[in-house]
Amino acid sequence: MTEELRIRKLVSVFSPEQIAGRVRAMAGEIDAQYGDEPLIAICVLKGACIFFSDLVRCLHNKNLELDFIRLASYGTGTTSSGQVVLRKDVENDLRDKHVLLVEDIVDSGRSMRFVLDAFAARGPRSLRLAALVDKTGRRDTEVSVDFSGFSVESGFLVGYGLDYAERYRGLPGICEIVPE
Ligand code: IMP
Ligand code: MG
Repeated sequence: MTEELRIRKLVSVFSPEQIAGRVRAMAGEIDAQYGDEPLIAICVLKGACIFFSDLVRCLHNKNLELDFIRLASYGTGTTSSGQVVLRKDVENDLRDKHVLLVEDIVDSGRSMRFVLDAFAARGPRSLRLAALVDKTGRRDTEVSVDFSGFSVESGFLVGYGLDYAERYRGLPGICEIVPE
């Protein structure tokens, strides 16, 4: 974190009620895709932790397992560099398993491209991505979001797990940071 944004205000973008509605709808799509087939849902820490917790509680799959990864990407406060490393790996063997990555927000696409490529090499039966927010305006690496909560063009979002320099993760809704 080298760049410090001077924050003028936070503007609400998605309310807790809107988020809850989208999370339930996404869970319905995921249930329709997998039914009760064994599925490993993987939370990308830390940003997806709140979304993941709400999402898995809406799923009806009786053969769902949870796993967690943590990435480190080196960049400035509001952009990632694309140099991504897996700081914490899953505990499951992914071979022949249905795997669903659960991420907070896809921006350039580099973080998810890195993980999708790394996990594809482990021979899963299927590999899909659920992202609460698909931020489309700065995408420079192709990533397909199979289950998407919201689509936005731009703006730096915080709350509901999303942070700016580790702050604001606990906000119940999603807000956009308006810089000075
Ligand atoms: P990407 O590799 O550029 O797609 O960046 C994805 C990661 O950057 C996400 O997992 C977030 O941790 C972070 N990120 C990107 N945009 C935002 C944002 O608007 N708010 C908070 N974090 C963001
Ligand atoms: Mg993240």
